Amino acid sequence: MDSPPPILSITGLTKTYASGQTALAGVDLSIRRGEIFALLGPNGAGKTTLIGAVCGLVRPSAGRIVADGHDVERDFRAARSRIGLVPQELATDMFETVWATVNFSRGLFGRRADSGHVERVLRELSLWEKKDAVISSLSGGMKRRVLIAKALAHEPTILFLDEPTAGVDVELRRDMWAMVRRLRGQGVTIILTTHYIEEAEEMADRIGIINRGRLVLVEEKEALMARFGRTRLSINLKAPLVALPPGWGDVELSADGTTLSVVQAGAGAGEPDIAALFRRVAAAGLEIAGVTTTRSSLEDIFVELVGTPAEDLP
Ligand SMILES: Nc1ncnc2c1ncn2[C@@H]1O[C@H](COP(=O)(O)OP(=O)(O)OP(=O)(O)O)[C@@H](O)[C@H]1O
Ligand SMILES: [Mg+2]
Repeated sequence: MDSPPPILSITGLTKTYASGQTALAGVDLSIRRGEIFALLGPNGAGKTTLIGAVCGLVRPSAGRIVADGHDVERDFRAARSRIGLVPQELATDMFETVWATVNFSRGLFGRRADSGHVERVLRELSLWEKKDAVISSLSGGMKRRVLIAKALAHEPTILFLDEPTAGVDVELRRDMWAMVRRLRGQGVTIILTTHYIEEAEEMADRIGIINRGRLVLVEEKEALMARFGRTRLSINLKAPLVALPPGWGDVELSADGTTLSVVQAGAGAGEPDIAALFRRVAAAGLEIAGVTTTRSSLEDIFVELVGTPAEDLP
């Protein structure tokens, strides 16, 4: 069966800034219609540059971008009208009201005024009570909601969220996740960048990892978790062991002698050979104090691929 054409197709995208800094080095990426795609990468990896190139804010040095059937270079207005962008930086017309700025955004992309749509967007973002407030008077979280409302005002089919939840409170993050799911339900394709790996783990259908301007991996989240995931079974003993019994080479003993563990790498099956370890423990007459199993997370996978945990970066 032929797969449907991607809603966004990026080929050979390269960007070298005037400073000589190469931010993107030949990126190829196809985004499927209706998916939630999370782009993960450390600071300076090129995430915002990639989004900027798609949205016409950054001029590519080379490459081609087609958004919802429109070439971003040749057919910019049509391409851009399909795209909503929630930028990483808070920058908007501070002295306008919420209502005026969101309606203006809609008009900017050639959409006919539709106060019903704008009202729905503002209500969904809990901004309706603030519609007449001047943006500069709002809190940081409320300003971020306004940026989202602006991005949705013209009913885009592709929505970019560049670090949407960086520095926002728990409530806004929860609202944001709910909104992303609702939009996906309406058929909107969502591409988000995040430093919160648990967010990608929770939200994404597919995950791309970018490092130093190169996509180092693009994969279904489930497949990624299964391929790189590890399951560790640990058995705590009532009395410590001095050494592992002979022939237990695949089992690890903790330094204090109280914990036996086995690790199953790769494979999606999930469970290490728990039964075999239990049998051996029972045969050896060891008494069990407790049992734990742990799965490696996307965080571990990310560290393995990129080499630095996200929160340790400057
Ligand atoms: N306008 C610019 N002029 C020169 N260099 C830039 C410019 N914007 C970004 N860069 C450089 O390009 C590289 C990629 O930056 P970019 O902002 O795309 O990364 P990012 O992945 O979004 O990072 P972060 O997670 O910090 O937002 C960095 O080395 C950055 O310093
Ligand atoms: Mg960025």
